[in-house]
Amino acid sequence: ITKIAVLTSGGDSPGMNAAIRSVVRTCAYLKIACVGVYRGYQGMIEGDFKDMDARSVNNIINKGGTILKSARCDDFRTAEGRKQAHDQLLKANIDAFVVIGGDGSFTGAMIFNQEYDFPIIGIPGTIDNDIFGTTFTLGFDTALNTVVEAIDKIRDTASSHNRLFFVEVMGRDVGHIALNAGVGAGAEEILIPEENRGLERLLESLKRSKKSGKSSSIVIVAEGDKIGRNVFELKEYVEEHLPIYDVRVSVLGHMQRGGPPSCYDRVLASRMGVKAVESLLEGKTNLMVGVQDNKLILTPIEKAIKGHTKIDKELIRVSEIMTT
Ligand code: F6P
Repeated sequence: ITKIAVLTSGGDSPGMNAAIRSVVRTCAYLKIACVGVYRGYQGMIEGDFKDMDARSVNNIINKGGTILKSARCDDFRTAEGRKQAHDQLLKANIDAFVVIGGDGSFTGAMIFNQEYDFPIIGIPGTIDNDIFGTTFTLGFDTALNTVVEAIDKIRDTASSHNRLFFVEVMGRDVGHIALNAGVGAGAEEILIPEENRGLERLLESLKRSKKSGKSSSIVIVAEGDKIGRNVFELKEYVEEHLPIYDVRVSVLGHMQRGGPPSCYDRVLASRMGVKAVESLLEGKTNLMVGVQDNKLILTPIEKAIKGHTKIDKELIRVSEIMTT
């Protein structure tokens, strides 16, 4: 392997730039050529490449988003699209690539690897932390800090007005952001897709909370929660059944994906980038770099996509005790 490409794909996450920087600098250190691919797989199909050296990634470790841009690419789902991408890689003499992204990006990489026996390594980059084979994905820690900071601010106004706030957080189908940020921000209730305890229980808990002397409350709702109502419907439901509360809704939205990465995400990204390049040079392929017990590990991409991350039951228990 003499030339490695790096791309970011799917929803961006803080720490992607730090991972790009790490891949580029590891290549420079090992005297391997490195190419950045713009706009994920779409850029690969169109041959939107740029040679990168150690200086191309100056001053990006602290930046959110991705300097290479990102996209969710439908064309790469087709055999024709993947063939065009392969042609472009061959034309540019690229021997392998590192893809930084989530499960959709890894699925594309895995199929591409099977079709063309093309060496690939994945680095998990998503705020959702929904990838099997790693305790942390890049961006999760930063997103948690962003969410906690936002909820701290919401709490100030909630408490001044004795209000109940429903705060919707991202996470797609999983509740990792909601549960961790909920515990970190001291939420009264955390509604996650993994544990649907129903509306009755929510009302009971809010009643209890009011009775126990709490004047304001924060309820975190994961966007994928399955209670059957969205945050706005929840507001109406509670207002109707529990008129003791003055209720407001706050949907945090895409601010959760932006901002400078935390130190944890920067360090993890730097470690994963080195591991990804070294693994390719050792002849490894079709693997994802992950972290477990603070050690870097490699998991077959197929397992990373198909396995399910488990919600932390111990943390659910802690959250219940904390809302006493
Ligand atoms: O996967 C990251 C994520 O931010 C999810 O939490 C969210 O459901 C989704 O992406 C939003 O996607 P988009 O930016 O395409 O609306």
